[in-house]
Amino acid sequence: MTTLAILTAAGSGTRLGRDLPKALVELAGFPLVLHAARRLASSGVVDALVVTCPAGLDTAVRDVVAQDPHVDVPVRVVEGGATRQASVATGLALAGPDDDVVLVHDAARPLAPPLLVRRVAAAVRAGHRAVVPGLPVTDTVKQVAPPSPAGAGAAGGPDVERVVETPDRALLRAVQTPQGFDRALLERAHAQGAVRASAEGLAATDDAGLVEALGEAVHVVAGEEAAMKITTERDLLVARLLLEEES
Ligand code: C5P
Repeated sequence: MTTLAILTAAGSGTRLGRDLPKALVELAGFPLVLHAARRLASSGVVDALVVTCPAGLDTAVRDVVAQDPHVDVPVRVVEGGATRQASVATGLALAGPDDDVVLVHDAARPLAPPLLVRRVAAAVRAGHRAVVPGLPVTDTVKQVAPPSPAGAGAAGGPDVERVVETPDRALLRAVQTPQGFDRALLERAHAQGAVRASAEGLAATDDAGLVEALGEAVHVVAGEEAAMKITTERDLLVARLLLEEES
């Protein structure tokens, strides 16, 4: 029985304002996708890697990841889809017959440490069929009403949104990747959960959301600050600091 990691790197990452996809942006001299692949490989619990890449960049991504001496697991690179969900589904279709556990990880979280990969995989192997890493939330979070067609702002004033709920912060978790799944459950989530989520107007922004849409349990293990997501230039600066701390 083996573990496949799907590393999603097919996004454009326009908020970084570079003219290359986010996964190929460099952090301390190496592309984000390579940082992520190295940490997955060095966890010791990943048997093979599928990387989803932007259209036309499969050779470039293969050269970066598959030839790296630190990525000592078999690597396949495949063009992703129009959405993250479609990219994961494309990667999942390449799972081999022995892959019973699948980890889904975003190249946008290049510094997720090997110990986090092991923690997630171990929880799945222990029988939890859908596992996400999560951190406690330090901000108070408010849910606001969906935007009204007429617009929310009073004439002349700043735009405002109406608060409908304040969830108990102690029960909230900010969720990261890698997320780990029993392979059969993840396949069902992509086949059926995606349909249900969109029928119910749910925004399934991660794979665990598709599992939830099936009515199946999702479990949280402790996340890691280093698994932060890179969206802006400021995030890249923070990641650089984290890397310096690491060395
Ligand atoms: O855009 P965002 O940062 O939320 O994307 C999360 C991850 O999903 C990134 O690693 C990105 O490369 C990946 N992605 C993908 N295919 C898409 C869109 C995003 O693999 N079509």
